Amino acid sequence: MKRIGILTGGGDCPGLNPTIRAVVRKALSEGFECVGIKNGWKGMICSQTMKLDLNSVSGILPKGGTILGTSRTNPFKEKKNVKKVVQNFKKLKLYCLVVIGGEDTLGVASKLYRMGLKVVGVPKTIDNDLSGTDYTFGFDTAVNVATEAIDRLHSTAESHHRVMVVEVMGRHAGWIAVHSGIAGGADVILIPEIPIDLKEVCDILKKRKKRGKEFSIVVVAEGARLKENLVLKTEERDAFGHVMLGGIGHILGEKIEEITGYETRVTVLGHIQRGGTPTAFDRVLATRYGVKAVELVIAKRFGQMVSLQGNKIKSSSLQKATGKLKTVDKDLYNLAKIFFG
Ligand code: F6P
Repeated sequence: MKRIGILTGGGDCPGLNPTIRAVVRKALSEGFECVGIKNGWKGMICSQTMKLDLNSVSGILPKGGTILGTSRTNPFKEKKNVKKVVQNFKKLKLYCLVVIGGEDTLGVASKLYRMGLKVVGVPKTIDNDLSGTDYTFGFDTAVNVATEAIDRLHSTAESHHRVMVVEVMGRHAGWIAVHSGIAGGADVILIPEIPIDLKEVCDILKKRKKRGKEFSIVVVAEGARLKENLVLKTEERDAFGHVMLGGIGHILGEKIEEITGYETRVTVLGHIQRGGTPTAFDRVLATRYGVKAVELVIAKRFGQMVSLQGNKIKSSSLQKATGKLKTVDKDLYNLAKIFFG
């Protein structure tokens, strides 16, 4: 019996469990057996596995996180670890590895494919910044969480006549900020793709006040920058070279209060956006992705990543999908700007 390994890597994200369930259900129905690789690429380096059968995926559809565990381990940081991954692939008698991850995890999968391993990718990230697909699962849930938070913050903003700054996730791309900002009726949306012009922001808020609106909502992505400088939590980098972001909201809030004199409060949503049950949209997308991943395995289309193109589930090459980040569409941002102020 051919054996499919399943691995989840990078930041956890709503939709991972529905994907695992879909891969297992479809694979078993096609006569494969499955094995779970624990804790992302760390599990392939250390050969950490868990049983994956019908019972182990029962009841996980609505659950956030990943039953397999995850990590930000990069085997390519040390040559000996790449060797271990290749050795364990053989030792575990894998026919193929289904890798569920974002740009980093799938970037590793792409390199391993070019070294000869049979892999198929599934795109996940709340940031929605992976090329080759219109949507990654997890994004819709994060946008819904952020939108609900913006709705709730409107109450305090209106009652206290305050500016409320909401910091959302989005390291390199402002997709969550733009979507939740449009859905929540934000008065200003700031994204990593465009450096913040403080004067412009404050002018918008002042104009709003002039027309009688005593409160404002500002949505800012964590990767947005004032004068090109990123706001970092620490200088430390992870195994893929990323810094830990967070804090732009507070800096922005202070500056807004200083320049406009308007009372300002800041909320950082952080990991709340990544937690909890996936939306119905993400459950369906993850399920379609999982089934398609097994279809790619059956068709021997290795080195591919499943993707959503329009309303159809298709595939893109892993190399292309991880070669360049998908940043916010300018037309969408310009549309959001119509509602600023
Ligand atoms: O990549 C998804 C993401 O949630 C980013 O938006 C964020 O910058 C990062 O992960 C946070 O990573 P960690 O959970 O390791 O703090």
